[in-house]
Amino acid sequence: MKNIAVIGYGVIGKRVADAVNVQDDMKLSGICDVISDWRIQNAVRKGYAVYTATPEAEKEMKAANISVDGSMADLLEKVDLVVDCTPKNIAAKNVETYKKRGVKFIVQGGEKHKTTGHSFSAENNYESAVDLNATRVVSCNTTSILRTLTALKRADLLDSARGTLLRRATDPWESHLGGIMNTMVPEKEIPSHQGPDAQSVDPNLDVVTAAVKVPETLSHLHYWNVKLNRKSSKEEVLEAFKTSTRIQFIRYDQGLVSNNTIKEMYLDMGRPWGDMYEVALWEDMLKVEGDELFYAYVVDNQAIVIPETIDAIRALTGLETDGIKSIEKTNQSLGIL
Ligand SMILES: NC(=O)c1ccc[n+]([C@@H]2O[C@H](COP(=O)([O-])OP(=O)(O)OC[C@H]3O[C@@H](n4cnc5c(N)ncnc54)[C@H](O)[C@@H]3O)[C@@H](O)[C@H]2O)c1
Repeated sequence: MKNIAVIGYGVIGKRVADAVNVQDDMKLSGICDVISDWRIQNAVRKGYAVYTATPEAEKEMKAANISVDGSMADLLEKVDLVVDCTPKNIAAKNVETYKKRGVKFIVQGGEKHKTTGHSFSAENNYESAVDLNATRVVSCNTTSILRTLTALKRADLLDSARGTLLRRATDPWESHLGGIMNTMVPEKEIPSHQGPDAQSVDPNLDVVTAAVKVPETLSHLHYWNVKLNRKSSKEEVLEAFKTSTRIQFIRYDQGLVSNNTIKEMYLDMGRPWGDMYEVALWEDMLKVEGDELFYAYVVDNQAIVIPETIDAIRALTGLETDGIKSIEKTNQSLGIL
């Protein structure tokens, strides 16, 4: 049993906390944040021990009648590993504290590869993270790229891949604060950062991405053109994708024709927040023409990194040295069939 802390109880942190809480080989020792509103009050309702990141936050939490279990330093005393889910760049600063205290840590995809020197994607490089002191779980888009291209690579089909990413404008709960409307905003640089980011896990991938921000909040949608090593068939490519337990085929003829219908299905399935941990890839749209492959899929940006984070915890703490076993255990615990 390993003791785990979650620092930053936002979109990703609250999901990581719940996911840790349902594992039988790790214990959530507490969560730590600077907020004192409904978000942290829900953590209290769930029975999580709440710690404060700053003395000012402690005052505010106490004023809001939130029972505080201690400071971030107190929490770090109790744990084997920290999952830092604070916003971009804050985790990079916290890292110095974790290092000084000799606590293992995981950061999320908003941080740079150099923050940890290791970037993680379970089906690609689990074993390389075993017993390390730190890793970075790559971003939602990068995770989906690695899952799909790694499956093609395993089947010795992948030559090179070119993808266009339609990125959600903002997270649903923050829609009142910003996000674009009645427009689409292409990123100026090609490649967009996700292709190079995938290479931080697998330097041998020949991958180029371009990205455009679109006016919706549910999920990202990717279109891929892949050059295969040889002429292949749709059946062979589908078999390759089936080797990933975290790619879910979806079909138009089952009414799954858009990201909102997919979201509704996962809500109906009873997943927390309607979360889709899998990459939802259109089986009937997928096309193979000789040595060229075309497909599209949807990425639930708020959910896809959650199983990856649980696997990263097992790898770093040495709870499991075999990636396949950890992935199976995580899948079972989160209802990934
Ligand atoms: N939102 C997504 O779709 C998504 C997807 C994949 C990866 N990520 C990455 O996950 C990380 C977290 O993103 P998020 O969307 O969950 O952010 P968020 O803004 O929803 O949550 C961050 C939380 O950290 C708290 N916080 C801020 N400063 C803090 C401090 N000094 N100490 C403790 N807590 C502090 C905030 O109050 C907030 O509750 C980022 O690296 C991001 O790039 C986000």
